[in-house]
Amino acid sequence: MATAELAGKHLVLGMTGGIACYKIAELTRLLTKAGATVQVVMTEAATQFITPVTMQALSGRPVYTSQWDARVPNNMAHIDLSREADAIVIAPASTDFLARLAHGMADDLLSTLCIARDCPLLVVPAMNRQMWQNPATQRNVAQLRADGIEVLGPDSGPQACGEIGDGRMLEAAATYEAIASFFAPKILSGRRLLLTAGPTFEPLDPVRGITNRSSGKMGFALARAAQQAGADVHLVAGPVALETPWGVFREDVQTAQQMHDAVMRTVADADIFIGVAAVADWRVDHVSDRKIKKTAERTLPSFSFVENPDILAAVARLSKPPFVVGFAAESDNLEVHGEEKRARKNVPLLIGNLGPQTFGLDDNEVILFEAGGATRLPRADKQTLARALITEIAKRLPPGISPAG
Ligand code: CTP
Repeated sequence: MATAELAGKHLVLGMTGGIACYKIAELTRLLTKAGATVQVVMTEAATQFITPVTMQALSGRPVYTSQWDARVPNNMAHIDLSREADAIVIAPASTDFLARLAHGMADDLLSTLCIARDCPLLVVPAMNRQMWQNPATQRNVAQLRADGIEVLGPDSGPQACGEIGDGRMLEAAATYEAIASFFAPKILSGRRLLLTAGPTFEPLDPVRGITNRSSGKMGFALARAAQQAGADVHLVAGPVALETPWGVFREDVQTAQQMHDAVMRTVADADIFIGVAAVADWRVDHVSDRKIKKTAERTLPSFSFVENPDILAAVARLSKPPFVVGFAAESDNLEVHGEEKRARKNVPLLIGNLGPQTFGLDDNEVILFEAGGATRLPRADKQTLARALITEIAKRLPPGISPAG
């Protein structure tokens, strides 16, 4: 998560009764770490699962539980609290609270706040699978959606009651991602992005291989930022130890040839292609099917190599290419190599950075190379940089595939 991703955002976090209340402690921490201010409001039932003292300590603000709170000078907590908010998030949202919301009830502070709001409302349901599947709940959820309320989740899997199925609350990290995504400007709405990330691994034998240094962090950050910007994202990833960004479709591959084939199979559907992967340029022409053993004479093995396909150049050569963006990490003379590589691969935009100094780090500094010249972006963490790059890419989409086109 980027620092200050939600800077300046003020959220009312409404908690209703349910065992998933424990997840809200972590969610509050994630939201405040991202720069948001969080005003917690709890129903009486929520206070049975986690104490207001805990939520006050985590949010750094007094918690409201009653509509008759003497701390509010004009006794209008239901109006005052939501007026400052950029959104109200109800998490966990119980079956009962969803029903009350759907029917416009206003019989406690939180329900009154929701009906008196002039900001978006997001609900994060949490309940037993039978309660979720009950036609009454499904009717209420459909009504809430029709009323313009965002419903985040629920998740599927083992539940606190011991049963397995739909209804449990999204994990705190996934809830955070959904909230951050809600606030991101939808500059790639309706666009389909295909991108490659991470290294490739070219086997020599069943236990050895050659690879490139790449953590995959930049590519995954771009996939996340594009998803948040409203794009439909297909991520083709080499071997990396990273979690799939929320809402992104991921396809795992090992070798350059597999990455090439995965891209070529789906590129016709893409509006934008970004090649972030550090693709191994060569593979051995014959992969040993047994482990290569040391010999008694200690003769060194020798390998002959063949060139891997250049995925970026192949996409750029298509008769109807998407908007193609390349990446390049150079050890020196970035200004010269960057523009030379962009022209050689015949792509409209190439993003260059100085590696290997940045490999695996969270910070990066890049230069955008395009026919009209080069532009340097300020140094930033990879998530912030990813958002800036997605903005730059959206601005450059040619008419016809631009969001406005
Ligand atoms: N790339 C690719 N397929 C390859 C090699 C590179 O798609 N076989 C893409 C990368 O994903 C990146 C860009 O091309 O977007 C530049 O990668 P880089 O390794 O710097 O390019 P090379 O052509 O291999 O240049 P160099 O001679 O510097 O290794």
